[in-house]
Amino acid sequence: MSRLIVVSNRVPDPQAGRTRAGGLAVALEQALKLRGGIWLGWSGEAVDDPSIEPKITEVGAVAYARLDLTPEEVQEYYNGFSNRVLWPLMHTRLDLTEFARNELAAYLAVNRRFAQAIAALLRDDDLVWIHDYHMIPLAAELRRLGVKNRIGYFHHIPWPAPDILTALPRHDDLVKALLEYDLVGLQTEADADNLFAYLTREYGLRSNGRGVVGWDDRSCRVAHFPIGIETEPFAKRARRAGRASFVREITESLMGRKMIIGVDRLDYSKGVPERMAAFEKLIELDPDLVNKVTYLQITPRSRSEVPEYAQIERAVSETAGRVNGRFGEANWTPIRYVNRAYGRTALAGLYRAADVGLVTPFRDGMNLVAKEYVAAQNPDNPGVLVLSRFAGAAAELEGAVLVNPYDCEGMARSIAKALNMPLEERLARWRINWERLVDNSIDVWAETFLVALEDSQLSFAGRLLGFMKSSDQRFGHSHRR
Ligand code: G6P
Repeated sequence: MSRLIVVSNRVPDPQAGRTRAGGLAVALEQALKLRGGIWLGWSGEAVDDPSIEPKITEVGAVAYARLDLTPEEVQEYYNGFSNRVLWPLMHTRLDLTEFARNELAAYLAVNRRFAQAIAALLRDDDLVWIHDYHMIPLAAELRRLGVKNRIGYFHHIPWPAPDILTALPRHDDLVKALLEYDLVGLQTEADADNLFAYLTREYGLRSNGRGVVGWDDRSCRVAHFPIGIETEPFAKRARRAGRASFVREITESLMGRKMIIGVDRLDYSKGVPERMAAFEKLIELDPDLVNKVTYLQITPRSRSEVPEYAQIERAVSETAGRVNGRFGEANWTPIRYVNRAYGRTALAGLYRAADVGLVTPFRDGMNLVAKEYVAAQNPDNPGVLVLSRFAGAAAELEGAVLVNPYDCEGMARSIAKALNMPLEERLARWRINWERLVDNSIDVWAETFLVALEDSQLSFAGRLLGFMKSSDQRFGHSHRR
């Protein structure tokens, strides 16, 4: 089995406690332990004169290689191009996309620096697996250094429609860099279709029917690999957490009221103020709910140095304040809004205790909260997931009550339906979702991607056969600007 090199913007600190590690980190660590390998990325530190070589900590068969960035790099590569350009663009928020050429230069420079660090550690048959939008040009940088290994990329966030992508200056360079990977994984079929639509419209490239596009002597497979969660371990965690004093204290404080839960990073893509407005509408439409239901919104702060995140923080606080001021009573706070981050066990217990899980992003690659909410439920008395049709998870979780986050009243009515849903329907919906989660757990996801990446060597044979080499299918010929 080939050694595995994982690269992502953030690398977990192996010395920190593991209690907060998310499902993705757990799955990647499992794959790394199995194959042996390296996890490389940013340490999260900004220092004036960072070393070119990463700090390496070995734990068993896994080496964690952490690179520091300069404060300017953090500003331009991370806050700037990654989170003020690519993030809003990929979430179809052109109004928030702030392009600056110096930030693009820093983004490319950090990718180059990461590529040099990886190349120095790489062995011939290592598999390289790069994660997310911070690192799109990494394969191109590695190829420039002569690296011939199989390199895969997984895009955790949505891939937008071609028209949106073409609003990015130099979008063609970004996509050309993407095609330097042997395998590009997206969350949903719709995301993969968007990328294919771009490739067809901009370059005249087409898939060979198996998701492979080729030009000159290169080929790249594009496919969707919907990410999962650690389904059964998470369900077990939720069962145990139900007995924990922290969760009991919260359920007792509800005094018999129903509970709705929302858990999101504080991000404008999550639609939190609109969700609160839908809750407000719900009480307006059905005043009998006054003092009968509590909505707990857990929203840890995120990317606070980016101005749009400061704005969304104000919008959420103001909305929560307005709803609580309007409907609250001395003995009832309709919305309990907290910015703290809770550990996974506490969250699992809270999901299980909630009658309704509200996950209503405007756009989301997958949304693992939706999946964790389902996994945490009591199979004999499950709560109901109310899910945005614009979350990647909606393509799989057919048992959810699907909503349109742009339709406030529609969301309010769907929450009412979820709160009043009879046990039989709740059971039927939950079982559909649970089966999906069992079939596609996160370790299955990681293994499926890695097997496909290993197989991409076969598609190299396809390259040599020169399929799809007609001149109008090469870059440069049918390329529209
Ligand atoms: C999303 C992205 C991840 C990112 C996470 C947290 O889920 O897909 O790549 O790590 O947000 O964002 P942050 O900017 O704090 O790393």
